Amino acid sequence: MAKKRYIVGITGASGPEIGLKLAGALLEKGFEVHLAVSGQAKNIIRDETGLDIGNTKKEAINALARYFGNRERLFYSESTELWAPVASGSFKTEGMFVAPCSMKSLSALACGYAANLIERAADVCIKEGRKLVICPREMPFSPIHLENMLKLAKIGVIIAPPVAAFYPGPRTIDEMTGFFVGKLLDSAGIDHDLYRRWDGQYDAGHGKRAPKKRKL
Ligand SMILES: Cc1cc2nc3c(=O)[nH]c(=O)nc-3n(C[C@H](O)[C@H](O)[C@H](O)COP(=O)(O)O)c2cc1C
Repeated sequence: MAKKRYIVGITGASGPEIGLKLAGALLEKGFEVHLAVSGQAKNIIRDETGLDIGNTKKEAINALARYFGNRERLFYSESTELWAPVASGSFKTEGMFVAPCSMKSLSALACGYAANLIERAADVCIKEGRKLVICPREMPFSPIHLENMLKLAKIGVIIAPPVAAFYPGPRTIDEMTGFFVGKLLDSAGIDHDLYRRWDGQYDAGHGKRAPKKRKL
């Protein structure tokens, strides 16, 4: 049977680490990952994570293969490559994640304005009825952003912004990012152990920080 594939789009919002960690988790799970990174996202990846994926496709492929330690199941396309396989509905995938999703890309998705590969691949997922999970990042959201999200949610797109939870006891940014990525994977029904699930009590013997007792 053919390998199951997911598309991951990283757009130019803060938090590209979420998309990178997500792609890494999907690769570890044995999925084929078709990754596209917008031009603006390349800059933000470099500035926020220190990972420089360069300016050409070849440089990006080499840098990402080193970063993920995987060349076999990772397929990278520039966001300008509208001829890439994922631009067509005839190329079968399980679905797509856009993480993080900028408000510009969100508006394109909500309007079916497929001007780059990430927007086109997401548009394909919508028209083919495939799973689409987006992680919109902005603070605060304007009524325009919220209307775009509602429009997409009404047609089955999962809207999963990086909203922090404190019950799993995250102590580092990596652990908090693990929670965001875990929730994205949950949205697609993919099993993982990236965060500690709520089991009815804090610090349930997992060695995590217990909440401080309040003085009365
Ligand atoms: C450092 C930096 C951080 C940004 N963070 C966000 C963000 O969190 N959310 C957002 O909607 N736009 C953000 N932007 C603006 C987008 O990058 C811009 O709207 C861009 O056109 C998005 O294009 P893309 O979605 O095709 O990558 C940021 C820009 C910069 C330079």
